[in-house]
Amino acid sequence: MTDKSQGMEDGRASTATGTESLTVTDNRTGKNYDIEINDGTVRAMDFRGIKVDEEDFGLMTYDPGYSNTASCRSAVTYIDGEKGILEHRGIPIEQLCEQSTYLEVAYLLIYGHLPTEDEYNQWVYEITHHTYVHENIKNFMNGFRHDANPMGMLLASVGALSTFYPEASDIRDEQQRHISAVRLIAKMPTLAAFAYRHSLGLPYVYPDNDLSYTGNFLSMLFKMAEPKYEPDPRLEKALDILFILHADHEQNCSAAAVRVVGSSLTDPFTAIAAGVAGLYGPLHGGANVAVLRMLNRIGSTDNIVDFLEGVKQGDERLMGFGHRVYKNYDPRARIIRHHVDEVLEATNKESPLLDIAVELEKRALDDDYFTSRKLYPNVDFYSGLIYEAMGIPTDAFTVMFAIPRTSGWMAQWMEMLHDEELKIARPRQIYTGPRDVDYVPIDER
Ligand code: CMC
Repeated sequence: MTDKSQGMEDGRASTATGTESLTVTDNRTGKNYDIEINDGTVRAMDFRGIKVDEEDFGLMTYDPGYSNTASCRSAVTYIDGEKGILEHRGIPIEQLCEQSTYLEVAYLLIYGHLPTEDEYNQWVYEITHHTYVHENIKNFMNGFRHDANPMGMLLASVGALSTFYPEASDIRDEQQRHISAVRLIAKMPTLAAFAYRHSLGLPYVYPDNDLSYTGNFLSMLFKMAEPKYEPDPRLEKALDILFILHADHEQNCSAAAVRVVGSSLTDPFTAIAAGVAGLYGPLHGGANVAVLRMLNRIGSTDNIVDFLEGVKQGDERLMGFGHRVYKNYDPRARIIRHHVDEVLEATNKESPLLDIAVELEKRALDDDYFTSRKLYPNVDFYSGLIYEAMGIPTDAFTVMFAIPRTSGWMAQWMEMLHDEELKIARPRQIYTGPRDVDYVPIDER
């Protein structure tokens, strides 16, 4: 930053160096400052030099919810929210869903390029052979109440994994980072399936290495007395596409949580547990649960008008609609919508809730309240219908989101560790409380 009024026009931020700049006038002092603009961004720390006098702390920026703050540089995922574009490492999500597999996308996110055939085979082999969890994990699972939320169980057990792999805390070791990524991606479906089986009082099913990533997950969820579970290839494929769609979404609440916690240089299992915690909430991954509950509550297409009226009055939110970044149709919602019918056909199910969802979407998109605020269906609007058709209980929907998001979290975490500008996350505050208050002994209060 250049303080022009103090004769500091060294041209650093001015057009003389060819960079773009912003000139700010501090009306408290009448001073002008040139602030560099790089990549359409100014550095918040450049404002710190703007002071009324030497004693002054300097200007801060205030951005609750980080609505307009870039917290890192990232090459993992690109989103153009206005146009409804989502790309991983530059490849459009539509192409990935059509031509790739979830495990390949996981590799792409983490290592930055599509794997060669050898790299891919090795990656799949490693993940397939790390799906087992330590037997003691079962004891943790058994400690939960029968009605424990599977997401709470997943959160606890992912955190617990850090104690099984203390070597993972050597985060500067590339091999440790790699094996942690493999372990997390491999074990997440096992933990999720154990949590699901626990909630039903069913015995845990061990991983089957002959099956694909999603086929094995379906087996761990649904296998009963049959000697070998044969997953329906249509469900296997649909689930794989859902996993691709949920793999990463740049700096959302849970990825930001992973980076914030990871910035303290903790081990990856602990950082990913923070991601699971962030995802749990109804405004993030928990929205798929909230959508199903909402559709059930609406109950019939006849009630949609009243329901939307309540939303417009501010009594509640239309869950599965709206997004901080997308101000257009979420491309993931478009792809998922195409697969709902396929899954219903494969499972031989009818979904009265689908009719409600379709009509609800249509009515909302015809309504100025939603269009003027650019509220469109997001990824969670239709995903719950697929999970429901697959026989997954509503409480477990968010777990279905956490499994694939693990690769995105790991990609964000690894990228963060390579960031030369990495600093521990430590935001500032505007203090609004009292000062210099004398302590009052308890008997005088
Ligand atoms: N229903 C009704 N009104 C809404 C909704 C909604 N779903 N979302 C936003 N609005 C309104 C909001 O009331 C505000 O109106 P006004 O300007 O009159 O105050 C305006 O739209 C802007 O909303 P906001 O709350 O400032 O937007 P945000 O960027 O802070 O919130 C959001 C984004 C996703 C949290 C929000 O849209 C929401 O709560 N949606 C429902 C929950 C949901 O579906 N979440 C899943 C997100 S996608 C999957 C994921 O990444 O987890």
